[in-house]
Amino acid sequence: MVNDANALYPAPRARVQAMKEYHPPLGSRDALRLDFNENTLACSPRVREVLGCVSTGHLTRYPEREPVEAMVAAHLGVQPLQVVLTNGVDEAIHVLFEAFLDEGDELLLPVPTYTMYEVYASATDARVIAVQAADDLQFPFERLLAAITECTKIIAIANPNSPAGSVATREQILEIAKRAPNAVLLIDEAYFHFYGETVLDLVGTVPNLVVARTFSKAYGLAGLRLGLLAADAGVVRWIRRVLSPYSVNSLALACLPAALEDQSYLDWYVAEVLAARTEFESALDAAGVRRWPSRANFVLVEIGPQHKEFTAKMHAAGVLVRDRSSDPGCDGRVRITIGTRQQMQQAAQALNETLAALRAGIEA
Ligand SMILES: Cc1ncc(COP(=O)(O)O)c(C=O)c1O
Repeated sequence: MVNDANALYPAPRARVQAMKEYHPPLGSRDALRLDFNENTLACSPRVREVLGCVSTGHLTRYPEREPVEAMVAAHLGVQPLQVVLTNGVDEAIHVLFEAFLDEGDELLLPVPTYTMYEVYASATDARVIAVQAADDLQFPFERLLAAITECTKIIAIANPNSPAGSVATREQILEIAKRAPNAVLLIDEAYFHFYGETVLDLVGTVPNLVVARTFSKAYGLAGLRLGLLAADAGVVRWIRRVLSPYSVNSLALACLPAALEDQSYLDWYVAEVLAARTEFESALDAAGVRRWPSRANFVLVEIGPQHKEFTAKMHAAGVLVRDRSSDPGCDGRVRITIGTRQQMQQAAQALNETLAALRAGIEA
């Protein structure tokens, strides 16, 4: 507990005091960064050009996001009132939970999944109901259906999911939406570009569907903090009530049209990553490392009890990877982001050398 009875400062809400601290393992990331599923290369050069033309007006004026929202809506094929831009998908999740989760409500989460759902839910008065995936880490469809109750208020599904890259099918999503008509069904398509399948076209026809997209992954703009929610205009209206009107800053808004227009850069990057994923998966198979089939820009691998040493040795070899051992059902498993083919050849070499060193250590 942070606050004690003698503290001179006021105590936050009990819920906040009970929240677990979450510190993403940033800090000295001067290496090949295969730890956060970012674009490992660069954003579109057109975004760099826009940044080079930033004016004083961009800095002195409050940001106006509605014209850019209209542009994004046209790009996605939805109505302007069905889209809201956010400060990354993280803010979208935060605001959605603030708007909808009340005391007595339940948030249904297939786990393991993206950490921030639970973090933001823990600041509300709702209960988190975790639905554990089996060892194959496939989407636990039947178990999730069985866990729906009249208290279910939000169901959050990352599609593809992290850390394994597994997916829920369109049919499964539609069935869940139908079986939980009083719940918001959040389909977080952060990794959509690497998967290629979406339910965005169902926005407006499935009234409880909310789709999230980020510009942090394939677009390579994690530092600008840009995400969005697309949903029925009736749902978006409530999200706007809670959202700060200025949370998406002027530089991000200025860059977004350029990023959207440069489809050929995005297509090139995605194709490069998919080719690199195939090659890297072959390297894992050749090394005898268990892996889970992935539809995203990362692969989960089984390292076993030496997961900590593995992650540290990979770092020492210049490659950052993410130990997911503390995720439910993921002990001994490490997630590796897929970058370009050249980067993944470097990663495969570091992996082979690291595994050889660990095995030699065991035999010694
Ligand atoms: C499933 C999922 N959703 C959302 C995010 C965060 O996206 P943003 O950078 O837009 O906040 C991540 C980042 O890792 C993610 O894996």
